[in-house]
Amino acid sequence: MKTIALYPGSFDPMTNGHLDILERATKLFDRVIVTVAVNNRKEAVFSGDERIELIETCIAGKEWSKNVEVKQFTGLLVDHAKKMNANTLVRGVRQISDFEYEFRMALTNKRLAPNIDTVFLMPDEEFTFISASIVKEVAYWDGDLSSFVPKAVAEALKKKFRK
Ligand code: PNS
Repeated sequence: MKTIALYPGSFDPMTNGHLDILERATKLFDRVIVTVAVNNRKEAVFSGDERIELIETCIAGKEWSKNVEVKQFTGLLVDHAKKMNANTLVRGVRQISDFEYEFRMALTNKRLAPNIDTVFLMPDEEFTFISASIVKEVAYWDGDLSSFVPKAVAEALKKKFRK
C-alpha cells in the first residue's frame, strides 16, 4: 500500500523551514501533498494561487520533489485528507512553544477523524526560528531575506511590499 501524507499549512509564504520539513516528509511517505489552506480565517499576503505557484517554483528540479503535489483547500483539513486518501498529516514543530497549538490541533483532527494521524517532524536546527510571519516582517522593512526563504519567495515578497 502506498503511503500518502498531507503537509498542510498556510504557506504565506513558503520558507526554508517549510522546504526542509517537506524534503524530510518525502523520505517517509510515497506521496506528499502540500496542502495550502485558503480562505482560512487568517488574512494572507499571497492568494492561494500565488502561494501554490511559489511552492511549485521552490521545489522545481529538486530530486526529492518527484512525489510531491501542491493543492489548495478550504474547509476542514480532515475532510480534504479523506478526499485525497491520505491518512497522515505532517506538521513541523520548531520549538516547544509550537507544541501546545500543534497538540490541540492534532487532537481536534483525531477527534474528527480517528483514522488520520498527525506526525511531527523537526526541521534542521538552523531553521528553528524561521516563521512566515517573521519573514514578512523582515520583508516589510526591506531586510535581507536570503537565509530565510528561497530566492523566488524573496522576490515575490519584495514586490508585494514595494512602497
Ligand atoms: O501554517 P498554519 O497557519 O499553522 O496552518 C494551520 C492549518 C491551515 C493547518 C489549520 O489552521 C487548518 O487545518 N485549518 C483548516 C480548518 C481545520 O481543519 N481546522 C481544524 C483543526 S484545528
